[in-house]
Amino acid sequence: MAFNFLQRHKAVERNVTLLAILAFGAVTIGGIVEIAPLFWIDNTIEKVHGMRAYTPLEQAGRDIYVREGCYLCHSQMIRPFRDEVERYGHYSLAAESMYDHPFQWGSKRTGPDLARVGGKYSDAWHVQHLKDPRSVVPQSIMPSYGFLATRDLDTSQTKAEIKTLALVGVPYTHTDVAKADADIRAQADPEADATDLKARYPKAQARDYDGDPKRLTEADALIAYLQVLGTMVDTNAPAAQEHLAREKGR
Ligand code: HEC
Repeated sequence: MAFNFLQRHKAVERNVTLLAILAFGAVTIGGIVEIAPLFWIDNTIEKVHGMRAYTPLEQAGRDIYVREGCYLCHSQMIRPFRDEVERYGHYSLAAESMYDHPFQWGSKRTGPDLARVGGKYSDAWHVQHLKDPRSVVPQSIMPSYGFLATRDLDTSQTKAEIKTLALVGVPYTHTDVAKADADIRAQADPEADATDLKARYPKAQARDYDGDPKRLTEADALIAYLQVLGTMVDTNAPAAQEHLAREKGR
């Protein structure tokens, strides 16, 4: 049997035209199987309860995250393997990065995955860790980013950015765009009234993040972003469980 198979295979290996035709056939079938279903489903991302767009402050923090190249050492996608889930929490859902432009999944992990780092540490821990990583994790090789707490956050492009993100499909309303600047301040200033912000961005946390309530710094924005990561979807809520059960059943 095996001998027979090898004999036949010899023909394919010796005849380049036959090899090309068969290879073409195999790739075509594989292509159809992969691509054709996409024409019959409306969306590849299932909606999950709790997802919302980033507040302008979180988005500004995200921009700093990208600017500083944090993704060079940190991924933001928990893979669906047991060791990952035990270390980082529930595996990432597609919906959780649906408003990310650009997404930060990454494949380089010099440091840990950050997809669910929100709420894991206090703001003060983050301030200290960014300033001097080795003061809280002695064996850390993360560079220090102390300067972020000394630099004022540049908000000159905030409104334009929110408007642009709305253009590419992030569900910001006209009000969100109009109030972008006010929202940034409302979220980072402990004295400000954040009721309106929280009504439009459910579960948004408003407070001073960097330990200096008088200034709005880049650290405020970055920490606001880190603290929201992975916290929007409650993976223990019944709606999410239902969705997950469906996903597992596939
Ligand atoms: C050269 C690689 C490198 C870069 C760049 C880097 N980190 Fe890290 N990061 C690490 C390593 C290694 C750790 C684990 C040790 C520690 O906690 O410091 C870590 C840990 C962390 C943690 C704690 C995660 C946890 O679950 O314990 C956070 C939060 C974090 N980094 C944020 C950032 C942010 C934000 C940036 C960009 C401003 C950044 N890192 C850039 C290497 C890096």
